[in-house]
Amino acid sequence: MKASMLWLAAAASALLLFGQESNKGAARSGPAIPLGLLPVQFPRDNPYSADKAELGKLLYFDKRLSKDNTVACASCHHPKFAYTDGAAVSTGIRGQKGGVSAPTVINRAYGAIQFWDGRAPSLEEQAKGPIQNPIEMGNTHANVVATLKGIAGYRPLFEKAFGTGEINIDLVAKAIATFERTVLSGSSAYDKYTAGNKAAMSASAIRGRDVYVNKAKCDACHEGVNFTSNAFHNIGVGMDKPNPNPGRLAVTKDAKDMGAFKTPTLRDISRTAPYMHDGSLKTLEEVVDFYDKGGVPNKNLAIEMKKLNLTAQEKKDLVEFMKALDGTSWQSIKEPTQFPQ
Ligand code: HEC
Ligand code: HEC
Repeated sequence: MKASMLWLAAAASALLLFGQESNKGAARSGPAIPLGLLPVQFPRDNPYSADKAELGKLLYFDKRLSKDNTVACASCHHPKFAYTDGAAVSTGIRGQKGGVSAPTVINRAYGAIQFWDGRAPSLEEQAKGPIQNPIEMGNTHANVVATLKGIAGYRPLFEKAFGTGEINIDLVAKAIATFERTVLSGSSAYDKYTAGNKAAMSASAIRGRDVYVNKAKCDACHEGVNFTSNAFHNIGVGMDKPNPNPGRLAVTKDAKDMGAFKTPTLRDISRTAPYMHDGSLKTLEEVVDFYDKGGVPNKNLAIEMKKLNLTAQEKKDLVEFMKALDGTSWQSIKEPTQFPQ
């Protein structure tokens, strides 16, 4: 009874998605792309389908993927907090706290390398991590697969998504990654302004854009449609602490990567406080002050990091510009109200 209701709901929402997309002429190639973004590139071995994205959404929100049924991907990357958790560090099963802040899942489609230190080469690889991380979902891949095989309602959804009734961890990861590639943010005031609507941004935000590009040169690192180079830099966060997080060094073992972290997107940034890998800055005003001082001095500090001498007005304008990057599209994704039984 419940399973058949879910079937109906899944079929209806897949139809809806299909209908919306075909209006935009992109029925089979991927999700609708909001203003200001590029088409999403889906990997050759994991092409887009609405059925796969829909299955991935269910898995993403399903707490049964964790060892004690209490934590889903969405617990730490929730739409309510623009796909973060609104906390400095995340809380996994049995209330365990992690060491770093949860980045947003929004627009991750535009970067292959995942995690603050870049240790996962794709969203597919990334998705397998938290499931078996003892302080996140605390499960094993074998146990997740067994759990999903034991839920009759999932089998037909895997069949629709992959053409096979088989369930394994790679297919789970592929479905979740496909869903994540549909979580997009564009059509912001900035995008409308850039597209020619000069009334879309306030005068303060327009001045802030000038500070961003010309005086503060934030776009040395936060560049392109997703406001990130997807590269690693040491801006000094936490470097004044007794045991700083090594960041990228943990992956490359190269001393010059000490304290370097992946540049995060600035899209929807006003909605994802607190900031930085350790969640140490609470507001955008604090972030701007941090950069105004030139970051935290240390021997690996990026050469782009210099004292900026911003005026109070310039600081305000810079914050207004960042707020103009708040976008839409991901808000239309609705959290599932029922799960396969
Ligand atoms: C207990 C909280 C928690 C759970 C549960 C969790 N995550 Fe995360 N997620 C984090 C944290 C913290 C990080 C950053 C870790 C790091 O970089 O070392 C992260 C990183 C990521 C990233 C990389 C983002 C980037 O900008 O590099 C993605 C994508 C992601 N998680 C997706 C998922 C998916 C998919 C699931 C479910 C399979 C999941 N997360 C479950 C807390 C969580
Ligand atoms: C040298 C490269 C570089 C420059 C220049 C730079 N950033 Fe960053 N930015 C980063 C990196 C790397 C991080 C993450 C650092 C960390 O967590 O340790 C970051 C983090 C941020 C964050 C927090 C993002 C989040 O999700 O937590 C904001 C906001 C931000 N930068 C805004 C700016 C602004 C505004 C400027 C210009 C004044 C600027 N950045 C200049 C590389 C840079």
